[in-house]
Amino acid sequence: MRARIAVLAGDGIGPEVTEEGVRCLTAVATLFQHELELCPLAFGGAAIDSEGEPLPATTLQGVRSADAVLLGAIGGPQWSGSDARLRPEAGLLRLRRELGTFANLRPVRVHPQLLDASTLKAEVISGVDLVFVRELTGGIYFGEKHRDSASARDECSYSAAEIERIVRVAGQLARSRRRRLASIDKSNVLETSRLWREVTQRVMEREFAEVRLEHLLVDAAAMHLIRRPRDFDVLVTENMFGDILTDEASMLAGSLGLLPSASLGEGRRGIYEPIHGSAPDIAGRGIANPYGSILSAALLMRHSLGLEAEAAVLEQAVADALTAGARTADLVRPGEPACSTREAGQAVLSRLRPPE
Ligand code: IPM
Ligand code: MN
Repeated sequence: MRARIAVLAGDGIGPEVTEEGVRCLTAVATLFQHELELCPLAFGGAAIDSEGEPLPATTLQGVRSADAVLLGAIGGPQWSGSDARLRPEAGLLRLRRELGTFANLRPVRVHPQLLDASTLKAEVISGVDLVFVRELTGGIYFGEKHRDSASARDECSYSAAEIERIVRVAGQLARSRRRRLASIDKSNVLETSRLWREVTQRVMEREFAEVRLEHLLVDAAAMHLIRRPRDFDVLVTENMFGDILTDEASMLAGSLGLLPSASLGEGRRGIYEPIHGSAPDIAGRGIANPYGSILSAALLMRHSLGLEAEAAVLEQAVADALTAGARTADLVRPGEPACSTREAGQAVLSRLRPPE
């Protein structure tokens, strides 16, 4: 097949990890005789510097004509002063909104070889395999904002339709997995959460009766996530709770640098990005973990290109690289030798095997 991939490397470690994601994506495509056209586009702080805005019109146009977007990371101290007029983050939020990618899938799997990389006990995290479905284009991220010198306000609102569609994505995913769904809200305090719980209950009862549903308050969920992580299968939640809980959940896997994500909407086009940020403190040193980007490339093949076998080959190569001990600095104990971003990418590339 032929496909066009928009590559938005962004800021900080974004370009370094995306380079490895792209190398792996291209290699798998070649292995299976697909032709990928890669279109690098300016985005984030880098685009503020070069074109005066974080999501330039040319980038949005390029993204619209692509089959999928591979994104790195955005942001950095030079663009984040308290009264910065243009923020890289605004470009990311607008991109998600413009493409209508309301469903953000964040899978968390614990690799047996990495049990010692987590700060949590091996017996608690062994065998964890869960997926967060984070609502991505609504809630407090997109509500009306106000600030003056004496007060500030961020509005949080959700419509029943926005809740229904994200719950359907989660319900379908749960149906294809272990048939368990945890819905996370703060319905003891927030009206949006009371609506969330009511709509979730209704959709699940009517359309996904075979899926076991539990409702959790977000504070309790934060605790249960590290107390009994193996009990979770699919978790669905609103935008900000999902942002916070998935950083927490990354520590089950061992490092924030390992987690990929897929942002999906109505059509096939999606945005694929590691969940980590731009990490300006380590940018440019060649030590960042590229696995989150490489695994995002695998999700891109699966969800936007419909290439399941190809995605599985890439995921297996990452697992094999980790089994062989190819660990970046975030995955080793302080002082132990670590491999570079490039070496980790190479460890995956050299383990790509076509299926028998
Ligand atoms: C993420 C990031 C973004 C978010 C930031 C960079 C706006 O933290 O994708 O998790 O909060 O959604
Ligand atoms: Mn985040």
